[in-house]
Amino acid sequence: MGLLDGKKGLVFGVANDRSIAWHIARNLIAHGATCGFAHLPGEKMERRARKAIEGGGVVDPFLVPCDASNDEDLDRTFAAVKERFDAIDFLVHSIAFADRTYLKHGNFHETPREVFGQALDISAYTLVAMANRAAACMPNGGSIIGMTYYGSEKAIPGYNVMGVAKAALEACTRYLALELGEKGIRVNTISAGPIKTLSSMAVDGLDQIFEWVEKKAPLRRNVEADEVGKSGVYLVSDLSSGVTGENIYVDCGYNVVGL
Ligand SMILES: NC(=O)c1ccc[n+]([C@@H]2O[C@H](COP(=O)([O-])OP(=O)(O)OC[C@H]3O[C@@H](n4cnc5c(N)ncnc54)[C@H](O)[C@@H]3O)[C@@H](O)[C@H]2O)c1
Repeated sequence: MGLLDGKKGLVFGVANDRSIAWHIARNLIAHGATCGFAHLPGEKMERRARKAIEGGGVVDPFLVPCDASNDEDLDRTFAAVKERFDAIDFLVHSIAFADRTYLKHGNFHETPREVFGQALDISAYTLVAMANRAAACMPNGGSIIGMTYYGSEKAIPGYNVMGVAKAALEACTRYLALELGEKGIRVNTISAGPIKTLSSMAVDGLDQIFEWVEKKAPLRRNVEADEVGKSGVYLVSDLSSGVTGENIYVDCGYNVVGL
């Protein structure tokens, strides 16, 4: 018997088999859950997501194209989810975007208004937009997970506007937890240590961050995406039934170190 037998949900953010979303989904499925997937529209996006998901052994996956910055796309996606699954038990929000031109050491102060707005919209507001629609599909309560990074709390060179967006995402998590708690819906974030993915490679100086974490983190290594996936299982399962509005660090302990 799996921890998540009978649980169904939607996962946003599988771009390829390195995506954190895929590692979360893979672990949820291994514990008995059924996942549907939403990917950015486009033939190439669908092909890459499908390759990861089918390559991971999921037969005939439920895949929906969705640009989360578009309300009609979100409405269509959640309508399709309702039709396919009727009710869902979890939502994984593992998406973010910022123009990489402004993810360079020393250029945060030059961030244009449109770049700032887009980063905040796609990386933070979409959690609110999805949670609102997901809540309507969660009559039995549920668990919503967002992905964040320590650059929300401390200024990390190159993380720039994405750090501001992650701070907003974490605040959104707390407000969503407060309002959706009475429906039995829990909302939490996982703060993952750095992991090599398509998105993280846009951050200037990523290799230096890896080296630094390996030297300074209590576990003296970088985190594996699989370890983030396992914490996803905890947050979706009843093992975390009393946990909401929280940020769970899965970073080999890096965030507790002062120097
Ligand atoms: N990789 C890391 O080091 C790290 C660390 C902490 C947190 N995170 C967070 O984890 C999450 C997943 O990132 P990842 O590292 O797996 O990279 P990734 O590139 O594999 O995933 C990012 C996903 O966001 C999706 N996306 C971007 N704009 C979108 C939009 N408008 N609509 C729908 N989807 C959109 C992309 O298609 C992609 O699937 C992000 O929130 C990221 O900030 C990553």
